[in-house]
Amino acid sequence: MSNICVIGTGYVGLVTGVCFADLGNQVFCLDINKDRIDKLNQGIMPIYEPGLEEIVERNIKSKRLFFTTDYETALKDAEIAFIAVGTPSGVDGEADLQYVRNAAETIAQVVDHPIIVVNKSTVPVGTGDWVADIISQTRDSKKLDFSVVSNPEFLREGSAIGDFMNPDRVVLGSLEREAAEKVSRLYEPLRAPILITDLRTAEMIKYASNAFLATRISFINEIANICDELGADVREVAKGMGLDKRIGHSFLDAGLGWGGSCFPKDVKALAHMAVLHNSQPQLLQAVMDINRNQRRRVVYRLRKVLGGSLNGKVIGVLGLSFKPNTDDMREAPGTEIIHLLLNEGASVKGYDPQAMENAAKELPKIQLCDDPYQTAEGADALVLATEWNEFKQLDFEKVYKLLRTPVLVDGRNLWDSQYLRGLGFTYFGIGQGN
Ligand code: NAD
Ligand code: UGA
Repeated sequence: MSNICVIGTGYVGLVTGVCFADLGNQVFCLDINKDRIDKLNQGIMPIYEPGLEEIVERNIKSKRLFFTTDYETALKDAEIAFIAVGTPSGVDGEADLQYVRNAAETIAQVVDHPIIVVNKSTVPVGTGDWVADIISQTRDSKKLDFSVVSNPEFLREGSAIGDFMNPDRVVLGSLEREAAEKVSRLYEPLRAPILITDLRTAEMIKYASNAFLATRISFINEIANICDELGADVREVAKGMGLDKRIGHSFLDAGLGWGGSCFPKDVKALAHMAVLHNSQPQLLQAVMDINRNQRRRVVYRLRKVLGGSLNGKVIGVLGLSFKPNTDDMREAPGTEIIHLLLNEGASVKGYDPQAMENAAKELPKIQLCDDPYQTAEGADALVLATEWNEFKQLDFEKVYKLLRTPVLVDGRNLWDSQYLRGLGFTYFGIGQGN
Protein backbone atom coordinates (compact mmCIF):
# COMPACT_ATOMS: atom_id res chain seq x y z
CA MET A 1 0.00 0.00 0.00
CA SER A 2 1.28 3.47 -0.85
CA ASN A 3 0.23 6.98 0.06
CA ILE A 4 -0.65 8.78 -3.14
CA CYS A 5 -1.76 12.27 -4.06
CA VAL A 6 -3.43 12.90 -7.41
CA ILE A 7 -3.46 16.53 -8.52
CA GLY A 8 -6.42 17.34 -10.79
CA THR A 9 -9.75 15.51 -10.58
CA GLY A 10 -10.78 15.60 -14.24
CA TYR A 11 -11.34 12.48 -16.32
CA VAL A 12 -7.81 11.21 -15.82
CA GLY A 13 -7.05 12.37 -12.27
CA LEU A 14 -10.33 11.19 -10.82
CA VAL A 15 -10.19 7.80 -12.50
CA THR A 16 -6.53 7.35 -11.53
CA GLY A 17 -7.22 8.32 -7.92
CA VAL A 18 -10.26 6.12 -7.41
CA CYS A 19 -8.68 3.13 -9.16
CA PHE A 20 -5.50 3.32 -7.09
CA ALA A 21 -7.67 3.55 -3.96
CA ASP A 22 -9.59 0.50 -5.14
CA LEU A 23 -6.28 -1.34 -5.48
CA GLY A 24 -5.70 -0.73 -1.75
CA ASN A 25 -3.70 2.50 -1.66
CA GLN A 26 -4.50 5.58 0.43
CA VAL A 27 -5.31 8.34 -2.04
CA PHE A 28 -5.89 12.06 -1.71
CA CYS A 29 -7.46 13.58 -4.82
CA LEU A 30 -6.85 17.29 -5.03
CA ASP A 31 -8.31 20.03 -7.20
CA ILE A 32 -8.30 23.82 -7.19
CA ASN A 33 -11.95 23.71 -8.30
CA LYS A 34 -13.83 23.89 -4.99
CA ASP A 35 -17.20 23.15 -6.51
CA ARG A 36 -15.84 19.91 -8.00
CA ILE A 37 -14.35 18.81 -4.66
CA ASP A 38 -17.51 19.76 -2.71
CA LYS A 39 -19.57 17.68 -5.13
CA LEU A 40 -17.24 14.71 -4.85
CA ASN A 41 -17.37 14.89 -1.07
CA GLN A 42 -21.17 14.70 -1.33
CA GLY A 43 -20.90 11.68 -3.64
CA ILE A 44 -21.95 13.70 -6.72
CA MET A 45 -19.84 12.91 -9.82
CA PRO A 46 -18.62 16.03 -11.65
CA ILE A 47 -18.42 14.05 -14.93
CA TYR A 48 -20.43 11.27 -16.53
CA GLU A 49 -18.31 8.14 -16.65
CA PRO A 50 -19.91 4.69 -16.43
CA GLY A 51 -19.06 2.82 -13.20
CA LEU A 52 -17.34 5.78 -11.55
CA GLU A 53 -19.92 6.54 -8.87
CA GLU A 54 -19.94 3.02 -7.35
CA ILE A 55 -16.17 2.83 -7.11
CA VAL A 56 -15.92 6.31 -5.54
CA GLU A 57 -18.60 5.44 -2.99
CA ARG A 58 -16.94 2.13 -2.10
CA ASN A 59 -13.54 3.72 -1.51
CA ILE A 60 -14.82 6.70 0.44
CA LYS A 61 -16.56 4.21 2.76
CA SER A 62 -13.39 2.20 3.25
CA LYS A 63 -11.54 5.43 4.08
CA ARG A 64 -8.95 4.97 1.35
CA LEU A 65 -10.12 7.87 -0.80
CA PHE A 66 -10.27 11.55 0.16
CA PHE A 67 -11.05 14.73 -1.77
CA THR A 68 -9.59 18.09 -0.87
CA THR A 69 -8.61 21.50 -2.23
CA ASP A 70 -5.79 21.79 0.32
CA TYR A 71 -2.34 20.92 -1.05
CA GLU A 72 -0.82 20.57 2.45
CA THR A 73 -3.38 17.97 3.53
CA ALA A 74 -3.13 16.08 0.26
CA LEU A 75 0.67 15.98 0.16
CA LYS A 76 1.39 15.54 3.89
CA ASP A 77 2.19 11.80 3.71
CA ALA A 78 2.37 11.38 -0.06
CA GLU A 79 5.21 9.20 -1.34
CA ILE A 80 4.04 9.66 -4.91
CA ALA A 81 2.26 12.70 -6.40
CA PHE A 82 0.58 12.34 -9.79
CA ILE A 83 0.07 15.49 -11.85
CA ALA A 84 -3.11 14.99 -13.89
CA VAL A 85 -4.11 18.55 -14.74
CA GLY A 86 -5.27 19.77 -18.15
CA THR A 87 -2.81 20.59 -20.95
CA PRO A 88 -5.08 22.37 -23.45
CA SER A 89 -4.08 23.82 -26.79
CA GLY A 90 -2.39 27.18 -26.48
CA VAL A 91 -0.98 29.60 -29.04
CA ASP A 92 -0.30 27.92 -32.44
CA GLY A 93 -1.38 24.55 -31.04
CA GLU A 94 1.44 24.46 -28.48
CA ALA A 95 0.40 22.64 -25.28
CA ASP A 96 -0.41 25.16 -22.55
CA LEU A 97 1.57 24.05 -19.52
CA GLN A 98 0.45 26.71 -17.04
CA TYR A 99 -1.50 24.18 -14.90
CA VAL A 100 1.43 21.76 -14.83
CA ARG A 101 3.76 24.59 -13.82
CA ASN A 102 1.41 25.64 -11.06
CA ALA A 103 1.11 22.09 -9.73
CA ALA A 104 4.89 21.57 -9.80
CA GLU A 105 5.56 24.88 -8.02
CA THR A 106 3.02 24.12 -5.34
CA ILE A 107 4.48 20.66 -4.71
CA ALA A 108 7.89 22.31 -4.28
CA GLN A 109 6.49 24.86 -1.85
CA VAL A 110 4.53 22.40 0.28
CA VAL A 111 6.51 19.15 0.47
CA ASP A 112 9.37 18.54 2.88
CA HIS A 113 9.95 14.81 2.54
CA PRO A 114 11.24 12.58 -0.29
CA ILE A 115 8.68 12.37 -3.08
CA ILE A 116 8.25 11.00 -6.60
CA VAL A 117 6.46 13.43 -8.92
CA VAL A 118 4.69 11.58 -11.72
CA ASN A 119 3.49 13.37 -14.83
CA LYS A 120 0.29 11.72 -15.98
CA SER A 121 -0.88 14.69 -18.04
CA THR A 122 -0.04 14.50 -21.74
CA VAL A 123 2.92 16.85 -22.03
CA PRO A 124 5.42 17.82 -24.73
CA VAL A 125 8.69 15.96 -24.88
CA GLY A 126 11.07 17.61 -22.45
CA THR A 127 8.39 18.58 -19.91
CA GLY A 128 9.67 16.08 -17.33
CA ASP A 129 13.06 17.83 -17.30
CA TRP A 130 11.30 21.19 -17.15
CA VAL A 131 9.20 20.08 -14.15
CA ALA A 132 12.38 18.95 -12.38
CA ASP A 133 13.91 22.40 -13.02
CA ILE A 134 10.81 24.17 -11.73
CA ILE A 135 10.85 22.16 -8.51
CA SER A 136 14.58 22.78 -7.94
CA GLN A 137 14.29 26.49 -8.74
CA THR A 138 11.24 26.96 -6.52
CA ARG A 139 13.10 25.35 -3.60
CA ASP A 140 16.17 27.48 -4.24
CA SER A 141 18.80 26.53 -1.65
CA LYS A 142 16.45 24.34 0.45
CA LYS A 143 16.97 21.08 -1.42
CA LEU A 144 14.13 18.58 -1.88
CA ASP A 145 14.75 14.87 -2.39
CA PHE A 146 12.56 14.19 -5.42
CA SER A 147 12.44 12.29 -8.73
CA VAL A 148 10.33 12.89 -11.81
CA VAL A 149 8.64 10.04 -13.65
CA SER A 150 6.55 10.23 -16.81
CA ASN A 151 3.54 7.91 -16.78
CA PRO A 152 1.26 8.79 -19.70
CA GLU A 153 -2.33 7.62 -19.51
CA PHE A 154 -4.08 5.72 -22.32
CA LEU A 155 -7.65 5.46 -20.99
CA ARG A 156 -10.62 6.41 -23.16
CA GLU A 157 -13.57 8.39 -21.91
CA GLY A 158 -16.69 6.28 -21.63
CA SER A 159 -14.68 3.16 -20.72
CA ALA A 160 -12.16 4.84 -18.44
CA ILE A 161 -12.39 2.54 -15.42
CA GLY A 162 -12.09 -0.63 -17.50
CA ASP A 163 -9.23 0.85 -19.52
CA PHE A 164 -7.36 1.88 -16.37
CA MET A 165 -7.83 -1.46 -14.66
CA ASN A 166 -7.03 -3.54 -17.79
CA PRO A 167 -4.42 -1.55 -19.69
CA ASP A 168 -2.68 -2.96 -22.75
CA ARG A 169 0.52 -1.57 -21.27
CA VAL A 170 1.86 0.78 -18.63
CA VAL A 171 4.59 3.18 -19.74
CA LEU A 172 7.01 4.70 -17.24
CA GLY A 173 9.88 6.99 -18.09
CA SER A 174 12.55 8.33 -15.79
CA LEU A 175 16.20 9.05 -15.56
CA GLU A 176 16.05 7.37 -12.16
CA ARG A 177 15.25 3.67 -12.58
CA GLU A 178 14.48 3.17 -8.86
CA ALA A 179 11.76 5.82 -8.93
CA ALA A 180 10.17 4.30 -12.05
CA GLU A 181 10.27 0.86 -10.42
CA LYS A 182 8.57 2.18 -7.30
CA VAL A 183 5.75 3.60 -9.43
CA SER A 184 5.59 0.36 -11.41
CA ARG A 185 4.76 -1.51 -8.19
CA LEU A 186 1.47 0.42 -7.99
CA TYR A 187 0.48 -1.17 -11.30
CA GLU A 188 1.67 -4.72 -10.54
CA PRO A 189 -1.82 -5.92 -9.47
CA LEU A 190 -3.06 -5.08 -12.99
CA ARG A 191 -0.75 -7.71 -14.53
CA ALA A 192 -0.14 -5.60 -17.63
CA PRO A 193 3.14 -5.33 -19.55
CA ILE A 194 5.16 -2.51 -18.02
CA LEU A 195 7.64 -0.64 -20.20
CA ILE A 196 10.26 1.35 -18.33
CA THR A 197 12.16 3.80 -20.49
CA ASP A 198 13.62 7.29 -20.29
CA LEU A 199 11.56 10.42 -19.63
CA ARG A 200 11.51 11.85 -23.14
CA THR A 201 10.75 8.54 -24.80
CA ALA A 202 7.78 7.94 -22.48
CA GLU A 203 6.45 11.42 -23.29
CA MET A 204 6.79 10.72 -27.01
CA ILE A 205 5.08 7.31 -26.77
CA LYS A 206 1.90 9.09 -25.65
CA TYR A 207 1.84 11.61 -28.52
CA ALA A 208 2.84 9.02 -31.10
CA SER A 209 0.08 6.67 -29.93
CA ASN A 210 -2.66 9.30 -30.10
CA ALA A 211 -1.41 10.63 -33.43
CA PHE A 212 -1.30 7.11 -34.87
CA LEU A 213 -4.89 6.38 -33.80
CA ALA A 214 -6.03 9.71 -35.27
CA THR A 215 -4.14 8.83 -38.47
CA ARG A 216 -5.99 5.52 -38.78
CA ILE A 217 -9.31 7.35 -38.50
CA SER A 218 -8.35 10.02 -41.04
CA PHE A 219 -7.06 7.29 -43.33
CA ILE A 220 -10.34 5.37 -43.27
CA ASN A 221 -12.28 8.60 -43.70
CA GLU A 222 -10.27 9.41 -46.80
CA ILE A 223 -10.98 5.88 -48.10
CA ALA A 224 -14.68 6.44 -47.25
CA ASN A 225 -14.79 9.57 -49.35
CA ILE A 226 -13.22 7.72 -52.27
CA CYS A 227 -15.72 4.86 -51.72
CA ASP A 228 -18.56 7.36 -52.05
CA GLU A 229 -17.30 8.40 -55.46
CA LEU A 230 -16.62 4.86 -56.67
CA GLY A 231 -19.65 3.02 -55.28
CA ALA A 232 -17.79 0.87 -52.74
CA ASP A 233 -18.78 0.35 -49.09
CA VAL A 234 -16.16 1.47 -46.58
CA ARG A 235 -17.65 -0.71 -43.80
CA GLU A 236 -16.87 -3.83 -45.78
CA VAL A 237 -13.52 -2.39 -46.84
CA ALA A 238 -12.59 -1.85 -43.17
CA LYS A 239 -13.75 -5.36 -42.31
CA GLY A 240 -11.67 -6.82 -45.12
CA MET A 241 -8.63 -4.79 -44.14
CA GLY A 242 -9.01 -5.55 -40.45
CA LEU A 243 -8.92 -9.31 -40.96
CA ASP A 244 -5.27 -8.88 -41.81
CA LYS A 245 -3.66 -9.34 -38.38
CA ARG A 246 -1.05 -6.74 -39.21
CA ILE A 247 -3.83 -4.16 -39.66
CA GLY A 248 -6.51 -5.20 -37.13
CA HIS A 249 -10.06 -3.91 -36.80
CA SER A 250 -9.83 -1.09 -34.29
CA PHE A 251 -10.07 2.60 -35.15
CA LEU A 252 -11.25 1.96 -38.69
CA ASP A 253 -14.82 3.25 -38.26
CA ALA A 254 -15.40 5.94 -40.85
CA GLY A 255 -17.54 8.83 -39.65
CA LEU A 256 -17.45 12.53 -38.93
CA GLY A 257 -13.84 12.36 -37.81
CA TRP A 258 -12.17 12.40 -34.45
CA GLY A 259 -13.01 14.86 -31.71
CA GLY A 260 -12.59 15.01 -27.96
CA SER A 261 -10.31 16.61 -25.46
CA CYS A 262 -7.20 14.82 -26.64
CA PHE A 263 -6.73 13.79 -30.29
CA PRO A 264 -7.24 17.33 -31.64
CA LYS A 265 -4.96 19.04 -29.15
CA ASP A 266 -2.36 16.27 -29.13
CA VAL A 267 -1.97 16.00 -32.91
CA LYS A 268 -1.68 19.80 -33.04
CA ALA A 269 0.87 19.85 -30.20
CA LEU A 270 2.98 17.12 -31.84
CA ALA A 271 2.95 18.99 -35.15
CA HIS A 272 3.95 22.16 -33.30
CA MET A 273 6.80 20.35 -31.57
CA ALA A 274 7.99 19.06 -34.93
CA VAL A 275 7.99 22.52 -36.53
CA LEU A 276 9.82 24.00 -33.54
CA HIS A 277 12.51 21.37 -33.95
CA ASN A 278 13.03 21.69 -37.64
CA SER A 279 10.84 18.82 -38.88
CA GLN A 280 8.05 19.04 -41.44
CA PRO A 281 5.00 17.22 -40.02
CA GLN A 282 3.41 16.64 -43.44
CA LEU A 283 1.50 13.52 -42.49
CA LEU A 284 0.14 15.06 -39.28
CA GLN A 285 -0.96 18.12 -41.25
CA ALA A 286 -2.87 15.92 -43.71
CA VAL A 287 -4.44 13.97 -40.85
CA MET A 288 -5.78 17.23 -39.38
CA ASP A 289 -6.96 18.59 -42.75
CA ILE A 290 -8.88 15.41 -43.58
CA ASN A 291 -10.54 15.58 -40.16
CA ARG A 292 -11.65 19.17 -40.63
CA ASN A 293 -13.02 18.45 -44.11
CA GLN A 294 -15.00 15.48 -42.86
CA ARG A 295 -17.32 17.86 -40.98
CA ARG A 296 -17.53 20.22 -43.94
CA ARG A 297 -18.59 17.41 -46.28
CA VAL A 298 -21.74 16.88 -44.22
CA VAL A 299 -22.70 20.52 -44.50
CA TYR A 300 -21.97 20.45 -48.24
CA ARG A 301 -24.24 17.40 -48.64
CA LEU A 302 -27.04 19.02 -46.68
CA ARG A 303 -26.76 22.20 -48.71
CA LYS A 304 -26.91 20.22 -51.94
CA VAL A 305 -29.88 18.04 -50.99
CA LEU A 306 -31.82 20.96 -49.52
CA GLY A 307 -31.82 23.06 -52.65
CA GLY A 308 -28.46 24.84 -52.62
CA SER A 309 -28.80 26.93 -49.46
CA LEU A 310 -29.18 26.26 -45.76
CA ASN A 311 -30.49 29.70 -44.99
CA GLY A 312 -33.78 29.35 -43.07
CA LYS A 313 -33.56 25.56 -42.94
CA VAL A 314 -34.01 23.66 -39.69
CA ILE A 315 -31.53 20.87 -38.95
CA GLY A 316 -31.83 18.40 -36.08
CA VAL A 317 -28.61 16.99 -34.62
CA LEU A 318 -28.55 13.80 -32.53
CA GLY A 319 -25.50 13.43 -30.30
CA LEU A 320 -23.61 16.42 -28.93
CA SER A 321 -20.88 14.69 -26.92
CA PHE A 322 -17.72 13.83 -28.87
CA LYS A 323 -18.42 10.10 -28.55
CA PRO A 324 -20.98 7.89 -26.78
CA ASN A 325 -20.97 7.29 -23.01
CA THR A 326 -19.50 10.63 -22.05
CA ASP A 327 -20.88 14.12 -21.44
CA ASP A 328 -17.64 15.63 -22.74
CA MET A 329 -18.28 18.01 -25.64
CA ARG A 330 -14.72 19.20 -26.21
CA GLU A 331 -14.13 19.42 -29.98
CA ALA A 332 -17.20 17.25 -30.61
CA PRO A 333 -17.81 16.74 -34.36
CA GLY A 334 -21.52 17.52 -33.84
CA THR A 335 -20.70 20.87 -32.25
CA GLU A 336 -18.42 21.81 -35.13
CA ILE A 337 -21.11 20.91 -37.66
CA ILE A 338 -23.63 22.96 -35.68
CA HIS A 339 -21.39 26.04 -35.86
CA LEU A 340 -21.03 25.60 -39.64
CA LEU A 341 -24.81 25.25 -40.02
CA LEU A 342 -25.50 28.34 -37.90
CA ASN A 343 -22.99 30.30 -40.00
CA GLU A 344 -24.97 29.39 -43.10
CA GLY A 345 -28.21 30.73 -41.60
CA ALA A 346 -29.79 27.44 -40.53
CA SER A 347 -31.59 26.93 -37.23
CA VAL A 348 -30.44 23.95 -35.22
CA LYS A 349 -32.20 21.67 -32.77
CA GLY A 350 -30.15 19.22 -30.74
CA TYR A 351 -30.36 16.38 -28.27
CA ASP A 352 -27.86 14.23 -26.36
CA PRO A 353 -28.49 11.54 -23.72
CA GLN A 354 -25.88 12.94 -21.28
CA ALA A 355 -24.40 16.22 -22.51
CA MET A 356 -27.45 18.50 -22.19
CA GLU A 357 -26.05 20.44 -19.23
CA ASN A 358 -22.82 21.14 -21.10
CA ALA A 359 -24.75 21.84 -24.31
CA ALA A 360 -26.78 24.56 -22.59
CA LYS A 361 -23.48 26.37 -21.90
CA GLU A 362 -21.63 25.55 -25.12
CA LEU A 363 -24.41 25.95 -27.67
CA PRO A 364 -26.65 28.80 -26.52
CA LYS A 365 -27.91 29.44 -30.05
CA ILE A 366 -29.55 26.08 -30.64
CA GLN A 367 -32.86 24.72 -29.42
CA LEU A 368 -32.23 21.87 -26.99
CA CYS A 369 -34.80 19.09 -27.19
CA ASP A 370 -36.02 16.42 -24.78
CA ASP A 371 -35.60 13.46 -27.09
CA PRO A 372 -34.81 12.42 -30.69
CA TYR A 373 -38.43 12.86 -31.81
CA GLN A 374 -38.70 16.45 -30.63
CA THR A 375 -35.39 17.02 -32.42
CA ALA A 376 -36.84 15.67 -35.68
CA GLU A 377 -40.10 17.61 -35.44
CA GLY A 378 -40.35 20.17 -38.23
CA ALA A 379 -36.71 19.71 -39.28
CA ASP A 380 -35.52 19.62 -42.89
CA ALA A 381 -32.92 16.98 -42.05
CA LEU A 382 -31.77 14.88 -39.11
CA VAL A 383 -28.02 14.40 -38.62
CA LEU A 384 -26.65 11.62 -36.43
CA ALA A 385 -23.37 12.93 -34.99
CA THR A 386 -22.72 10.51 -32.10
CA GLU A 387 -23.61 6.82 -32.08
CA TRP A 388 -25.27 6.55 -28.66
CA ASN A 389 -27.11 3.20 -28.17
CA GLU A 390 -30.32 5.15 -27.66
CA PHE A 391 -30.22 6.22 -31.32
CA LYS A 392 -29.81 2.71 -32.73
CA GLN A 393 -33.45 1.75 -32.85
CA LEU A 394 -35.58 4.82 -33.30
CA ASP A 395 -39.18 4.59 -34.47
CA PHE A 396 -38.33 5.73 -37.99
CA GLU A 397 -41.93 5.72 -39.19
CA LYS A 398 -42.58 8.32 -36.50
CA VAL A 399 -39.40 10.21 -37.47
CA TYR A 400 -40.56 10.23 -41.11
CA LYS A 401 -43.86 11.85 -40.15
CA LEU A 402 -42.19 14.41 -37.88
CA LEU A 403 -39.57 15.65 -40.34
CA ARG A 404 -40.50 18.44 -42.76
CA THR A 405 -38.21 16.89 -45.39
CA PRO A 406 -37.28 13.21 -44.90
CA VAL A 407 -33.51 13.58 -45.06
CA LEU A 408 -31.21 11.54 -42.78
CA VAL A 409 -27.46 12.01 -42.54
CA ASP A 410 -26.01 9.05 -40.68
CA GLY A 411 -22.62 10.43 -39.66
CA ARG A 412 -21.63 7.20 -37.87
CA ASN A 413 -23.03 4.53 -40.22
CA LEU A 414 -25.34 3.40 -37.42
CA TRP A 415 -28.60 2.90 -39.25
CA ASP A 416 -29.91 0.44 -41.85
CA SER A 417 -29.81 2.33 -45.12
CA GLN A 418 -31.92 -0.16 -47.08
CA TYR A 419 -34.73 -0.14 -44.53
CA LEU A 420 -34.69 3.64 -44.28
CA ARG A 421 -34.68 4.16 -48.03
CA GLY A 422 -37.57 1.70 -48.16
CA LEU A 423 -39.52 3.97 -45.80
CA GLY A 424 -38.97 6.84 -48.21
CA PHE A 425 -36.06 8.67 -46.57
CA THR A 426 -33.26 10.29 -48.50
CA TYR A 427 -30.40 8.62 -46.59
CA PHE A 428 -26.70 9.48 -46.59
CA GLY A 429 -24.10 7.47 -44.73
CA ILE A 430 -20.33 7.87 -44.74
CA GLY A 431 -18.50 5.97 -47.47
CA GLN A 432 -21.41 3.72 -48.29
CA GLY A 433 -21.11 4.46 -51.96
CA ASN A 434 -23.78 7.16 -52.19
P1 NAD B 1 -9.77 17.93 -17.22
O1 NAD B 1 -9.78 19.24 -17.86
O2 NAD B 1 -11.00 17.06 -17.24
O3 NAD B 1 -9.36 18.09 -15.68
C1 NAD B 1 -8.25 18.79 -15.23
C2 NAD B 1 -8.48 19.14 -13.75
O4 NAD B 1 -7.29 19.71 -13.22
C3 NAD B 1 -9.58 20.18 -13.55
O5 NAD B 1 -10.54 19.68 -12.62
C4 NAD B 1 -8.83 21.39 -12.98
O6 NAD B 1 -9.58 22.16 -12.06
C5 NAD B 1 -7.66 20.74 -12.30
N1 NAD B 1 -6.50 21.61 -12.07
C6 NAD B 1 -5.95 22.54 -12.92
N2 NAD B 1 -4.88 23.12 -12.36
C7 NAD B 1 -4.73 22.55 -11.12
C8 NAD B 1 -3.80 22.72 -10.07
N3 NAD B 1 -2.77 23.56 -10.17
N4 NAD B 1 -3.96 21.99 -8.95
C9 NAD B 1 -4.98 21.12 -8.82
N5 NAD B 1 -5.89 20.91 -9.79
C10 NAD B 1 -5.77 21.61 -10.93
O7 NAD B 1 -8.54 17.14 -17.85
P2 NAD B 1 -8.45 15.60 -18.28
O8 NAD B 1 -9.33 15.33 -19.43
O9 NAD B 1 -8.54 14.75 -17.05
O10 NAD B 1 -6.96 15.57 -18.81
C11 NAD B 1 -5.85 15.73 -17.95
C12 NAD B 1 -4.59 15.36 -18.72
O11 NAD B 1 -4.62 13.98 -19.07
C13 NAD B 1 -4.42 16.11 -20.04
O12 NAD B 1 -3.06 16.34 -20.24
C14 NAD B 1 -4.94 15.14 -21.07
O13 NAD B 1 -4.35 15.33 -22.34
C15 NAD B 1 -4.51 13.81 -20.49
N6 NAD B 1 -5.35 12.67 -20.87
C16 NAD B 1 -6.70 12.80 -20.92
C17 NAD B 1 -7.50 11.70 -21.25
C18 NAD B 1 -8.99 11.82 -21.32
O14 NAD B 1 -9.63 10.85 -21.74
N7 NAD B 1 -9.61 12.91 -20.96
C19 NAD B 1 -6.89 10.46 -21.48
C20 NAD B 1 -5.48 10.37 -21.40
C21 NAD B 1 -4.73 11.48 -21.09
C1 UGA C 1 -8.36 8.71 -26.96
C2 UGA C 1 -7.48 7.44 -27.00
O1 UGA C 1 -8.23 6.36 -27.54
C3 UGA C 1 -6.99 7.07 -25.60
O2 UGA C 1 -6.11 5.95 -25.68
C4 UGA C 1 -6.24 8.26 -25.01
O3 UGA C 1 -5.84 7.99 -23.68
C5 UGA C 1 -7.15 9.48 -25.01
O4 UGA C 1 -7.61 9.75 -26.37
C6 UGA C 1 -6.44 10.71 -24.54
O5 UGA C 1 -5.25 10.83 -24.68
O6 UGA C 1 -7.18 11.52 -24.04
P1 UGA C 1 -10.87 9.27 -26.28
O7 UGA C 1 -10.57 10.60 -26.86
O8 UGA C 1 -11.51 9.19 -24.96
O9 UGA C 1 -9.50 8.41 -26.17
O10 UGA C 1 -11.82 8.48 -27.28
P2 UGA C 1 -11.63 7.52 -28.55
O11 UGA C 1 -12.46 6.33 -28.34
O12 UGA C 1 -10.22 7.30 -28.89
O13 UGA C 1 -12.31 8.40 -29.69
C7 UGA C 1 -11.74 9.63 -30.12
C8 UGA C 1 -12.52 10.16 -31.30
O14 UGA C 1 -12.31 9.36 -32.46
C9 UGA C 1 -14.04 10.19 -31.09
O15 UGA C 1 -14.54 11.39 -31.62
C10 UGA C 1 -14.54 8.99 -31.88
O16 UGA C 1 -15.85 9.17 -32.35
C11 UGA C 1 -13.55 8.97 -33.03
N1 UGA C 1 -13.39 7.63 -33.64
C12 UGA C 1 -12.85 6.60 -32.94
C13 UGA C 1 -13.75 7.44 -34.98
O17 UGA C 1 -14.23 8.37 -35.65
N2 UGA C 1 -13.56 6.21 -35.55
C14 UGA C 1 -13.02 5.16 -34.86
O18 UGA C 1 -12.86 4.06 -35.45
C15 UGA C 1 -12.66 5.36 -33.52
